[in-house]
Amino acid sequence: MAKIQLENITKKFGELTAVNDVSLEVSDGEFVALLGPSGCGKTTTLRLIAGLEVPNEGRILIGDKEVTKLPPRERDIAMVFQDYALYPHMTLLDNIGYPLKVRGVAKPDMTARVTEVATELQIGDLLERRPGQVSGGQQQRASVARALVHQAQVFLFDEPLSNLDAKLRLEARAFLKHLQQEVGVTAVYVTHDQAEAMALADRIAVMNYGRVMQLGHPLDVYRRPANTFVAAFIGSPPMNLLPCEVDINAGKILFEGDRVLDIASYRERWGGVLKNGRDITLGVRPENIAISSTEVPGSIPSRVYVIQPLGGEWLVVTQVGGELVSVRLFQDEAPELSENVWLKFDLDRTFLYDKNGDLLQ
Ligand SMILES: Nc1ncnc2c1ncn2[C@@H]1O[C@H](COP(=O)(O)OP(=O)(O)OP(=O)(O)O)[C@@H](O)[C@H]1O
Ligand SMILES: [Mg+2]
Repeated sequence: MAKIQLENITKKFGELTAVNDVSLEVSDGEFVALLGPSGCGKTTTLRLIAGLEVPNEGRILIGDKEVTKLPPRERDIAMVFQDYALYPHMTLLDNIGYPLKVRGVAKPDMTARVTEVATELQIGDLLERRPGQVSGGQQQRASVARALVHQAQVFLFDEPLSNLDAKLRLEARAFLKHLQQEVGVTAVYVTHDQAEAMALADRIAVMNYGRVMQLGHPLDVYRRPANTFVAAFIGSPPMNLLPCEVDINAGKILFEGDRVLDIASYRERWGGVLKNGRDITLGVRPENIAISSTEVPGSIPSRVYVIQPLGGEWLVVTQVGGELVSVRLFQDEAPELSENVWLKFDLDRTFLYDKNGDLLQ
């Protein structure tokens, strides 16, 4: 295993900048997920690490060796592609065992190792079949097995579970997590599924327009988004982002005309940088708002707009003036539709963002 370092990497395709000045270090044995919307540069970043693309600017190191311009075969990397890339004329056994064959491993040893990995991935009884004779999900697992069969220094995964059904996906996710914890693989894992990134990764890099918007432990990224893009991208439903007005003289931050918080109690956090005006956004997650049917100190009035049962909890969308605020309620009973209720934000879990969408702190 080895660490990976990206230093100020930029990759352009003609006019389009697919990866824009990305710096990222993945420690030895660390599992980092690249998470972001379609087209944000996740696959390109992975292909740069693999050597399938060469950056316009910046350096890439694997271990302590610079590999920026080395071809893929000189990088000791195993990659699982979005589109499996299995050889159609070969059996799964030969496909999965291919990396061992090219390294001169004897057939009996190869078969034993392939069987071990394939059994873990529940395709052990399909090894005599060709890719065309198994399902898409089984092909995908064969592709994962091929990456795992030899001990590469670095594993790169490009949405390896995206074609599996929900149940298999959870099982395969558990297997990958187990593998990560047991073997401590150094891995970069591309996904646009935030739940998968949260579940698997030691750290998540959230990307947008070729840039890393935030890099951190999954719970830090979830709890304390560094900007409104991350706040809106992570969480289901995402963080409420509420346009607020700052009134310095009154010492208040107002949302739809009502006081949501007193600046005085938060002066340490953002008092000094606040200015009068309407260019502040308040972020609070739906689970960090309490609902009550009577007014309590520090609460704001609202009206129940939509109620969605989610099984163990409720999603209650409330209306405050012209804005909607989502609340997750973990209780047996939900309020009534159109009921007047009071919302109280957990101020320790409430954040302010400036006009550029960056966290004030
Ligand atoms: N070979 C290429 N030539 C030209 N443009 C490319 C090429 N590869 C990628 N791009 C563009 O670069 C941008 C980033 O693409 P990339 O495949 O890295 O996105 P992604 O984050 O993996 O998206 P998805 O989630 O849809 O797979 C996109 O706008 C894409 O169209
Ligand atoms: Mg992609």
